[in-house]
Amino acid sequence: MHWQLHNTDAIAWLIDQSPDQFDALVTDPPYSSGGLHTKDRTADSANKKYLSSPSLYPEFAGENRDQFSYMQWSTLWLTAAHRTLKPGAPAMIFTDWRQLAVMSSAIQAAGFTLRGCIAWDKTEAVRPQKGRFRQQAEFILWGSKGPWHDKAGPTHPGVFRVPVTAGGPKRHTTGKPVPLMEALVKACPPGIVLDPFAGSASTGVATLRSGRRFVGVEREEAYYRIACERLSEEG
Ligand SMILES: C[S@@+](CC[C@H](N)C(=O)[O-])C[C@H]1O[C@@H](n2cnc3c(N)ncnc32)[C@H](O)[C@@H]1O
Repeated sequence: MHWQLHNTDAIAWLIDQSPDQFDALVTDPPYSSGGLHTKDRTADSANKKYLSSPSLYPEFAGENRDQFSYMQWSTLWLTAAHRTLKPGAPAMIFTDWRQLAVMSSAIQAAGFTLRGCIAWDKTEAVRPQKGRFRQQAEFILWGSKGPWHDKAGPTHPGVFRVPVTAGGPKRHTTGKPVPLMEALVKACPPGIVLDPFAGSASTGVATLRSGRRFVGVEREEAYYRIACERLSEEG
């Protein structure tokens, strides 16, 4: 079996794992963002915050922390994930404009060396905002557990222009396009990629297509099932 998926809480699962076993961390945690005002951001429904048609996808939790608690929670799970990674393992963590500073701090507080920020340009296909700038970009903060693993390989792009629906329709409210995930996974060493917030397993699909192995965690049963289905289709 080239993949494993666990239907449980990421932190509880991570602290139970042995140290130094995974080759890379590629993950897209809940952003606890969205909306303009605190009331919008702390709403229970993730779908209402991120979608114009909220009932298209199952709901998921972990989206209603304020920034202070989001930073503390992020430091907790990142610290637990750091312990499970091999020395030199790369870490790539999605975030948005609002949580960029908080997530940068949490990554470093957890012991990673923060090395840069990749821009994901979602193209003009994103929801327009009349009279304002388009919310067209999300970010992938990248770093490593100690020295970066690859000193001789190719240079990877620092900006990706990929529509949200590239590679097929989304299977999650905030699903990431598989071609983008494939480009990120290319910078990982061979071996096992860990994603403790697997959602519909876009990281997992990209990882399997690259010939690497995948270990994921997803707390919501509805998404766990979708993810298992997608991973099984990859073999
Ligand atoms: C932003 S989504 C990931 C989407 C994924 N990248 C995709 O393309 O489908 C974050 C996921 O983390 C899950 N999640 C939130 N809190 C969690 C926790 N404490 N443990 C495990 N999963 C959690 C949510 O249910 C959600 O599916």
